[in-house]
Amino acid sequence: MQLRNRKLPRDAVHHPVFARFYARMSVTADLRGGIAAYREELLSGLSGRVIEIGAGNGLNFARYPGAVSEVVALEPERSLRQLAVRSALRAEVPVDVVPGAAEALPVKSEAFDGAVASLVLCTVRDLPRALAEIRRVLRPGGELRFFEHGLAPGRALAAAQRVADRTLWPLVFGGCHTARDPLAAIAAAGFEVGTYRRLRIPERGLQVPSSPCVLGVARKPFTED
Ligand SMILES: C[S@@+](CC[C@H](N)C(=O)[O-])C[C@H]1O[C@@H](n2cnc3c(N)ncnc32)[C@H](O)[C@@H]1O
Repeated sequence: MQLRNRKLPRDAVHHPVFARFYARMSVTADLRGGIAAYREELLSGLSGRVIEIGAGNGLNFARYPGAVSEVVALEPERSLRQLAVRSALRAEVPVDVVPGAAEALPVKSEAFDGAVASLVLCTVRDLPRALAEIRRVLRPGGELRFFEHGLAPGRALAAAQRVADRTLWPLVFGGCHTARDPLAAIAAAGFEVGTYRRLRIPERGLQVPSSPCVLGVARKPFTED
């Protein structure tokens, strides 16, 4: 893989406290909160070369199907990246963990058949730029698989999300925002949105600002506008 020098420094993201928390909480959420099944659904049917954006501690890696020839997994936070390297060793497909941020992907254009964004579009600093980068590195017809939380359909929770985003939520959760609309952003970035479904996590009980989620696929058009 040829890495390109782009503008952002390699450790552009530094949230060590959140990283420690996420490393533990995400494993519990996968096992007990049913997230593992959503990861499986997210990655099912992927093939060829795949780029994963903000891979965290690498919980998706073990779930890539055998038809995937290579995963390039970007993770900007150093301690999560170290955990991702360990997860990569246990994966059944080759996974190359590299530093880098979504806003300046250090890879060549049109080099990937698929891109994966799970629980990361909420956190990138510049969402339109990140999606433009994902579009750049996908081949025409390539797929963006997404599993993201986002803006609630109901007014009350949406209002609570906006308050959360303006106050403590991004500080506590490593720069995460809850009132972004990933589907609208993906469409605005020029992807063709394919099948998707909305879900909530947790499925039952009290909703929190990050409960409304969407899981689906979008495609880079074969012809540029
Ligand atoms: C909530 S975690 C999700 C991790 C992983 N994708 C998963 O599904 O478990 C958000 C991740 O986004 C990463 N991140 C934050 N800012 C980023 C950026 N600008 N570009 C790429 N990744 C970023 C964080 O370091 C963290 O690993």
